[in-house]
Amino acid sequence: MFKKLVIVSLIAVTVDFFCGEKATDIILSLYKTVFYSTQIPVNRERVFTKEELKLYNGVDKPQLYLAILGNVFDVSKGIKHYGPNKQYNVFVGQDASRSFVTGKFNKEDISEDVADFSYEELRSLDHWLNFYKKEYTKIGLLNGKYFDEYGRATPYGEAVQNLIKEAEQAKQQIQLEKTKFPPCNVEWDADKGSRVWCSQKSGGIERSWVGVPRQLYEPGSKSYRCACINESNEDLGVVKEYEGCDKTSFSCFVTQN
Ligand code: HEM
Repeated sequence: MFKKLVIVSLIAVTVDFFCGEKATDIILSLYKTVFYSTQIPVNRERVFTKEELKLYNGVDKPQLYLAILGNVFDVSKGIKHYGPNKQYNVFVGQDASRSFVTGKFNKEDISEDVADFSYEELRSLDHWLNFYKKEYTKIGLLNGKYFDEYGRATPYGEAVQNLIKEAEQAKQQIQLEKTKFPPCNVEWDADKGSRVWCSQKSGGIERSWVGVPRQLYEPGSKSYRCACINESNEDLGVVKEYEGCDKTSFSCFVTQN
């Protein structure tokens, strides 16, 4: 930056000498150019254009590169999957993020666009990104929907990253909820109707306590699910006892209203 300013100052003095009154405008515009060019964060990672990336298909260039969420990986060692005429060759030379989740590999189905994905789909895509980070070498970024020509995240790229974070948090929240209020076991019998009961493994949540079956109302919802409630969570105000069932019983028959 300092070097650049010295050069610009030298040019300025020269311009001043030769151009007289227009000099101030020229000097100002030169300073602006230098100042703004230093504001662009220079990403050290190589930034590929789409045309460049297309060449790394094992034919035009010997290497096999693919992009996912705008991150470019060298997948040459996976030639048995990605090489010419191999099953997953479609991923090579482009960003086919969408297909990692949809499993649709036709030309018209290939797209970088994933903004309409559900939380679950976004988590699955992020899982693939982490797979490539772990198994292959990342070699750069793709100038496209996710990164600009300087390797800076685009507003679209940032929005997708935020959605992925939200998707991850939502999953953690659901998991936390499930651990705190494990689902009940359920069975149905033509004569007796439905029975819900708790055990130390119900809902797939292994724990030291059993809990008692209660109707758990999620916030803002009029419907409920059966959850096994621990004594310490009994007075949360979002749980209701099953009608006609002893409040200390591990098992309740569900009466139809
Ligand atoms: C959304 C759908 C799918 C996608 C996006 C997908 C993607 C991939 C990718 C990218 C690889 C290469 C992984 C690597 O670099 O090591 C792979 C490998 C493989 N896939 Fe799929 N796949 C899909 C569905 C399936 C299905 C339905 C099957 C089986 C019926 C399958 C069977 C395999 C097998 C056997 C391998 C090779 C594993 C190995 O040799 O290491 N895939 N898949």
